[in-house]
Amino acid sequence: MRGLLPPYTDVMPDAPPPADAAARAAELRRAIAHHDRLYYQDDAPDISDEAYDALWHELKELEAAHPELVTPESPTQRVSGTPLDGLESAEHVAPMLSLDSSAKEEAFRQFDARLRKALGDDVPLRYSLEPKLDGLSIELVYEGGRLTRAVTRGDGRTGEVITANARTIRSLPLELDGSVRPLPPLLSVRGEVFLALQAFDDVNERLIQEGKPPFASPRNVAAGTVRQLDPALAASRPLSVYAYDVLEAGAGDDGHGALATHTEVLAAMRDWGLPVNPENALADDADGVWRAFEAFAERRDHLPYEVDGLVVKLDDLAARRRLGTTAHHPRWAYAIKFAPRKEVSQVLRIIASVGRTGVVTPVALLRPVNIGGVTVARANLHNREDVERKDIREGDTVRVERAGDVIPQVIERIEVAGAEERGAPFRMPERCPSCGTELVARGPYSLCPNAFGCPAQAVARLVHFGSRAALDVEGLGEVTARLLVEEGLVKELPDLFDLRAADFERLEGFAELSAANLEANVAKAAATTLPRFLVALGVPDTGPAVARTLAGRFGSVEALRAADADTLAAVHGIGPIMAEAIAGFFADPKNARVVDALLDGRVQVAPFEVVAPASDALAGTTLVFTGALERFTRGAAEALVAKLGGKAASSVSTKTTLVVAGADAGSKLEKAVALGVPVADEEGFLAFLEERGVAPGEVAALVGGAE
Ligand code: IVH
Repeated sequence: MRGLLPPYTDVMPDAPPPADAAARAAELRRAIAHHDRLYYQDDAPDISDEAYDALWHELKELEAAHPELVTPESPTQRVSGTPLDGLESAEHVAPMLSLDSSAKEEAFRQFDARLRKALGDDVPLRYSLEPKLDGLSIELVYEGGRLTRAVTRGDGRTGEVITANARTIRSLPLELDGSVRPLPPLLSVRGEVFLALQAFDDVNERLIQEGKPPFASPRNVAAGTVRQLDPALAASRPLSVYAYDVLEAGAGDDGHGALATHTEVLAAMRDWGLPVNPENALADDADGVWRAFEAFAERRDHLPYEVDGLVVKLDDLAARRRLGTTAHHPRWAYAIKFAPRKEVSQVLRIIASVGRTGVVTPVALLRPVNIGGVTVARANLHNREDVERKDIREGDTVRVERAGDVIPQVIERIEVAGAEERGAPFRMPERCPSCGTELVARGPYSLCPNAFGCPAQAVARLVHFGSRAALDVEGLGEVTARLLVEEGLVKELPDLFDLRAADFERLEGFAELSAANLEANVAKAAATTLPRFLVALGVPDTGPAVARTLAGRFGSVEALRAADADTLAAVHGIGPIMAEAIAGFFADPKNARVVDALLDGRVQVAPFEVVAPASDALAGTTLVFTGALERFTRGAAEALVAKLGGKAASSVSTKTTLVVAGADAGSKLEKAVALGVPVADEEGFLAFLEERGVAPGEVAALVGGAE
């Protein structure tokens, strides 16, 4: 590369850059990008480190002499900008779903059988196989070929903008290569950011030398690093990325354009210069997948990064479209997970720990043990019966298991020769270890009934209140929550909003700046959405998905509070037991007081758009629209179903109530016939509505209101 143009030597800062300076800079950038690709992606560098450094050196000098030549895509600009005050959030170009998964062969075979049944025997089920990298999913947006945005997965719809940190990933092109294949004007790809094991060791070694605590796992480093506010710090932790899917390419299509297979999608990404895992492979059927999985498991410990399984994706994109997705995962992909990691350790003590809902759980404090890169010093023993059944006592040698992000578990006691003298059996305390209230039994569980006076519950509630899926108060972790409760500053959740920086400053470990930051973070979190607010309150059984359902049905806290159990149970996805629990929660006067106080100027909950206000006429039904309709657009018909309390699905199954087929209906209609699902045309659909008490006039009004 070097020597294509003569070295540029003009250093007159004020003169406009001569054309050859600009040309040389462009040439150097191309050369560096080319060598980066050979080095980071193909693992096949073809110049020496010195020669590569010389290219950099020359480019830096040239840019120093002619700052106007610097472009955002220059490799010298990977670490750019000043530290941020906080991360912004952004909506994904297309939703980022999760994966259906299991560690069991049987479950994967069932997945394969489901696909064969749905697609018919004439579609060959070729699978694309990819290592399931244990990192973080991100979306990368390229506009006009330039990297304009990188967003964490977040809740799947919205994530945090981490562009500055993503730019520091050396294997990620800042500008795509359009020379092999035309570039779409807008390209959104999904990939996994991770830290290679070697880099993990380097990062930790440096931390230890600086006298700082090391990270527990590469994944933790990756997660902490992408959310860094200072890109320079991110750059010091050399992350990697592999792209594995196109979310969107160009206006309106589903990202795959003229491409017919996932293999072609991967090839396209590679052509554009994106890093694609060279381990990706293909299998012709389920047997082939399983053989590949077993072979892959053998190699697991020899890979340069952590993996937690194998992702299996249907290769045929048209078949994928026929299968569609659930709200949680695509029906055409499956993750076969590795058996969780297990290690042996010793129980030092067994303590009783009080959770947010008052459940008291026995927890084993262990001799710290490294399980698959994570140091484990505590493990869950679940409940009284579980401890008794496994007969775990202090001093015992035990097998501990860590499965992904889940809390480590004690699986079993191991008999050790010479350790026949054992400690006394564990006894659940009779009184709450935090507040001293007598515990009550709930089946195998023990419960502290002092919900509003127990400090441990208050701490756990506060931690939950500020957690990511809830109000997301940055800086309100376990330690701070405990201090706030212990110092008497927070007795109930609303108290948090009455505190000012001066109050926080009194807490151990806080200074003027950190106290001011916490006050600002609390104030920022106070403006929230209805789903987040419901999660934060700890409404029973209400995680983000149920919270969205409730928000979509009721629109405001007031409307939800006013609903009785029957009304709640009529909502699609809410069962009668959940309905009772939710209604009971709001009926409890103590909870009501907390909600009132929060809504009394402390928290601002934005109203949520109600999707199903009209009636429950179609409650419990699932409709699928296919082919061209005449009276409605597909969207209007689906919105109508939702407004009437039904569900509009994109694929046909035995659970489908009715398939409404317009002109040129294709495979969905065939499938409905094959499965014996009722089929109707548009007239039949209106008749179906009328049977359920929805008059034609009402249909017109509802559809009119939808546009
Ligand atoms: S595909 C709609 N491919 O696994 C497709 N995911 O458990 C969904 N992951 O959130 C993802 N390697 O963070 C896919 N080759 C791969 C992957 C992969 C790792 C992660 C990803 C996802 C999680 C789901």
